Order: sequence, then C-alpha cells, then structure tokens
Amino acid sequence: MSRRPRRLSACAFALAVVATATAAGEPPARPWMNASLSPDARAALVVQAMSQDEKFQLITTAYGSASDGKPAPACALGSAACAPALSRLGLPALQETDAGLGVARPLNAHSRDVATALPSGLATAASWDPAVAEAGGAMIGREAHRKGFNVLLAGGVNLLRDPRNGRNFEYAGEDPLLAGVMAGHAVRGIQSQHVVSTLKHYAVNDLETGRNTMNAKLDRVAARESDLRAFEIALGIGAPGSVMCAYNRVNGTYACENAWLLDQVLKRDWGYQGFVMSDWGAVHSAAKSALAGLDQESAGETFDPQMFFAAPLREAIAKGEVPQARLDDMVRRILRSLFAVGAIDHPAKAAPIDYAADAKVSQHAAEAGAVLLRNQDNLLPLARTLASVAVIGAHADRGVLAGGGSSAVTAPGGNAVPGLAPTVWPGPVMYHPSAPLAAIARRVGGKASYASGEDIAAAAKLAASSAVAVVFVQQWAAESFDRPSMALDGHQDALVAAVAKANPRTVVVLENNGPVAMPWLAQTAAVLEAWYPGNAGGEAIARLLFGEVAPSGRLPLSWPRDASQLPRPAIAGAGLAAIGLPPQGQPADTVDYDIEGADVGYRWFQRRGSEPLFPFGYGLGYTTFGYGPLTVTTDAAGAVTASFAVTNTGSRAGADVPQLYVQLPGEQVSRLVGWQKLALRPGETKRVRLALPAVRFARYDDRGHGWRVAAGTYRLLLGRSSAQIEQRAELRLPAVFPAGAQR
Ligand code: BGC
Repeated sequence: MSRRPRRLSACAFALAVVATATAAGEPPARPWMNASLSPDARAALVVQAMSQDEKFQLITTAYGSASDGKPAPACALGSAACAPALSRLGLPALQETDAGLGVARPLNAHSRDVATALPSGLATAASWDPAVAEAGGAMIGREAHRKGFNVLLAGGVNLLRDPRNGRNFEYAGEDPLLAGVMAGHAVRGIQSQHVVSTLKHYAVNDLETGRNTMNAKLDRVAARESDLRAFEIALGIGAPGSVMCAYNRVNGTYACENAWLLDQVLKRDWGYQGFVMSDWGAVHSAAKSALAGLDQESAGETFDPQMFFAAPLREAIAKGEVPQARLDDMVRRILRSLFAVGAIDHPAKAAPIDYAADAKVSQHAAEAGAVLLRNQDNLLPLARTLASVAVIGAHADRGVLAGGGSSAVTAPGGNAVPGLAPTVWPGPVMYHPSAPLAAIARRVGGKASYASGEDIAAAAKLAASSAVAVVFVQQWAAESFDRPSMALDGHQDALVAAVAKANPRTVVVLENNGPVAMPWLAQTAAVLEAWYPGNAGGEAIARLLFGEVAPSGRLPLSWPRDASQLPRPAIAGAGLAAIGLPPQGQPADTVDYDIEGADVGYRWFQRRGSEPLFPFGYGLGYTTFGYGPLTVTTDAAGAVTASFAVTNTGSRAGADVPQLYVQLPGEQVSRLVGWQKLALRPGETKRVRLALPAVRFARYDDRGHGWRVAAGTYRLLLGRSSAQIEQRAELRLPAVFPAGAQR
C-alpha cells in the first residue's frame, strides 16, 4: 500500500557521479544531431558512440524527489524520476514527471509548483471527442516541456472492469475502442510538444488492492480482445515513446518480466519500436526482465529490492546470460523515442506558462465530458432569473475534488481544502480552487446560499426556502487502494434524501471516481455526473447547469445498480483505514478476470441479461436528436461504411454522439465499432459517414496469431447508447485477416 521508498537512493548518487565523471573529454563529432536522419538512424549512431557505462546510465532512472529524509539526486527537478545528461554525447537529462491529468509532483514536492489540472481521464473519455483528448494532451505536454520535462508518465488506459478501482479516474473507461482512441489522442497531443508520453500500466492493472503482487488471470485471447486491444489501438494512434509495465502479475508472471506481454505481444506482434519502462517498484529480476523486454528500470534504487539494471545486469551480460545486443537494443529504443518526438532537437526548458489559457482547455474538457444522467421535467437548464439557489455539500463553497496518488496535480491557487485525511500518501486530498458556489452565485445576481451539509436539518431548511437546491456529493478515490463498496462516504445519502424531500427541485452534482450507489435517485429532479472536473470545474459545472453549454457527455462505462451486478461482487482487502474504510480480509493472490473475459462492462450486462442503472454510452442533453435510415456498404477487404443523418429535433443547440455497435455472427453481446460527436443547431441535419475498418469486426485467432473476420452475417446497430438501439442493418462480410494496426 505504502509508496514509501524501500531503500535509500545512495547507489543512484554513486552512479550519477561516476557517469558525470566519465562524461568529461573531447566532445565527439555528433552525426546523430543531423535532424534530417531518421530517429532509428540517429539512435543507432549514438549507440555506436556510447561507452558501456553510458549505456548503463540510460537504462535506469533515479527517483526525482527527496525521500525518506534523503536529498534528491543531482539531476532531480522534484518529480518522479531523472537520469543525468550524457553531455559528452550532447544528450539532455531524462526528466520524467507524472501524469495524465497534468504535471504532478510527488509527496513533499507538491507545494513547490503548480500546474493546470485536467478533469479526470473518465471525463475526457466521456466527451467521446478525440479532439478534446488531444487538446488536453497538448496542453499538459506543453506545460511539462516548459517546466523542463521531456517524459510525461501519462496515457493511462487500463480498462474499467470494476467501478471501485481507485484509479479509474486516470483511465478511459471500459471499452477497448473508446479507451484506446481517447488515450491514443491524448498521447499524440502530449508528444506534439516534444515530450515522450508513456502508455500505462501494461497490463491488466485493473485493481489497486494488492497491486504489487496480485496475479491477474485472464485468458490470452480475451486479453487480446479487451485490455490489450485498448493498448494496441492507443499505440497505433499515439505512437507513445514508452510503455510502462505494471506492478501486477499477469497469468502468473510479473508484468515487467513477462515475455509474452513485452516481447511477444508488444514488440513482435505489434511491432513496437519504443521502450518499456517499469512502474516504480515493479522490477523483480535483472536477466529475466531484460530478456523479457524491459528496457529501463525506473527509480529502482528507491522502489525495487535492489537496482537490477546495474550490477546484476552487468554480471548477467558478462556471463553471457543476456546478450550485449539486448543492452544495445534497450538503449537504442530509449534514444529512438527521444529523437522521434523531438525531445533532443527541441530540449525541454523553463519557459512562461499561460495558466489562464490552459485553464480554458481544462474547462472545455470538463464541459464536453460531463454527463447528464437525469433531468425530470427539464428542470435543467436553470434560469438566471431564479429567486434563490441553495448550494449544498462537498466544499462547493471552496472548490472541486480531484483524485489522489501520483497523478494529483496542485493547480494554481493550491489546495482549496487542505488538511483532510489522508494528508499523506495517497493523499493529500486535493480540492482545486474553483468554487461552484461563486460560479453559480455570479449567474443569479448573488442569490445563492451555501450549507456545508454537515448539519442535514440546516441544509434541508435552506433547500426548502430556495427556488432550487444543488447538492454536491463527492467520493474521493486514489491510487493504491480500491473502495470496498459503491456507497458514498459519510451521511451524503441521507443529506441528498433530506434535501430532495425538502425541495423536489433538487439537482445532484457528482464529483467522483465513477459509478456510486444512488439510493435517492428517484427523489431527485436532476443528476449531473461531473467526475473530478479539473481546475476550472466550478465554472464548467455552472455553465452546464445554466445551459451556457449543453451537456453532451456519454458514459464511457456501465453504471451498475449495485456491486452485486459485477463479475466480482467483493474485492477482498479493499479499503483505506485513513478515510474510515478499514480493509476487510487479505487481498486475493489471484483475481480471476476469466469470469467476464473480454465481456467487460456492457458486454457483461448483455451476457447476463441484466440491466445496469445507466448503460454504457448513455447521456442526456437539453435537446433531442432524430436519426435517419442507416445505410451500410462493404468492400472486398471487409471494410464497412455506415451512413445516416442526425437531426436536432429540439429547440436548443446541442451535441449528440450516435454510436454504432455490431453483433458478430451467433453472438448476443455487442461491440462498439464507431461513433461520432457532432454539434447541431436547432433543426439542423448533418450526415454522418463512418468508415469502420475490418478489424473492428474481427476476433483474435490465437492459433493463426492474428485478427480474423469470419465470413457471415453481422448485425450493425445504431444507438443512443449500448442499450438504446434505434436502427439495425444486416451485412455479410467475407473472411479476411486484417492487420491489428488497423483501428
Ligand atoms: C504509479 C505510476 C506513476 C509512478 C511514478 C507509480 O506508483 O503506478 O502511474 O507514474 O508511480 O510516480
């Protein structure tokens, strides 16, 4: 659980000192600085010129922050990791920082710097708009570059198999295509700024409980069609310079020494040219890891039992256990990625950051990704002429909640609600200083009043005397633990019920990691899922509530009624004592993901014939949309083109997300194969034409080592969500063997 360093970083210092000493001498001619050469050619030239010590310097990084009372290494910028510059070769230091929601600093380094915080990964995924993901990626990549970082530990794409997973907010939901596309575009945005992005945590790190040892059991074909497919798609779109292998074991072998995952699937089958870095404390061996495909050990001096990619790997090479060529390949891959994104031609360095402009990027993502779950009698949007608004709960007078752990960003203005438990890892609990109360008050001429919700009777009284009540509820989640249940903490359920009873015109705004139980749902008029909305979240929420922007997010996950609907109703050992949820029992040694296999989320519900509270793809807006007839054509290569018209049939502008699913021959479950987000004025019609590559209709054939579309009749479904299908079309596809690189 604890992320406290296991050992001091003494040997990292020693290594850095040796490396600096050997860096003296005449600068060689540097043919690799010729930017007209390919990244591969440039990397190969550097490798030829490197000494063995320089190679070893590049395949490890050191923790980039002070820890356990010990100072940080000389290269440190107060971040996740660094490796000193190879000045003799003209190569900059590797400067790595977390994470996918903005530049995050670890532990005690938190207070030193601020950065723009994006809304949670689930919010971005819920926008169903790759441009939102890419713009967010470019913004945080730019900030990273301007803070001196050339590697951003972003690109979280573990599938949401359980709403209680503490890191869902860093990821992109339950569907491999949606998650892969959104994460891939985020990576592309980051790397457009000359910053290497990772894709993480490879693979099947779908729960936090017992993550350091837990064995994720998942059939290989099912893995290829679910968790691995999300990575494969994201790789194809984003070409991340690095992939971070996960803490857990996969089918019995640790991810960072798992030859099937790293060497076979990633590097051979997918042709991945970048480097594999370990998660912090995820390495368990030298030779085995190196031979399996691990290229860089991250902060091993602090987090691993020993620095495997130092003396032990040198020994393994000397003994011939690991070929020298493997070491050269590790180094080549790291360099290639740096050249490919321009990290060497455009070195990261301190430069001014326009935080106001960047906050707008974050705000746009929050607005595009908020999901309107309920809106009885069109209570929303609210009018600015309201006589009074009661704003209740979740510190809405001060800010909006963020998730915790290594991805937590300290936004400009700092933590709006400091001191909440836990104040140490995986805390601090962070509220970004964007208060919904002030944003709402600005829209109603100041006629908004706040009740903290601590005193339920006082909150209900305020609600009863107000024209509308907006209750904020929150659920803090963080890296390193899972929630034992879907229930909201404390007396929030009682609070909502009391407020809704006092005033039927009650709107609930959720700030959370994902699905929570909502026993009070039927009593409320409206519910807006705002996720962790980022550091302009208060403004975004107010704009959505007052209709300055229409909600257009769609759920990137299935929202269960309760945990009994999940493949694994309980997570043994889940919880965190510091927030009043003491873990019950021991974490399981093995988590059996074969229960649902590739039928994650909506496919699980379909297979079971059970109905979630809200289905994958669901979301309301302030207008209505009609769909014209669905027409489908296919070509000899098995590619499908679907086309239909979408009309805004209501009286307000809005954006819709028509979704296409397919049922493979003989299958009852469906699979998302395409979608488009489109904005329409009232009365406006747009034609949607979706080109669907053959691989989206394929199953993975383990014996044939590839994707295979079976000849047969497929049913294409046009829906508003995975459960609300408006039109169906049948199509016959020929047998084809599409490349996995197709998306
Ligand atoms: C997390 C990674 C993170 C790393 C560096 C680990 O605990 O799992 O996502 O990038 O720490 O902070």
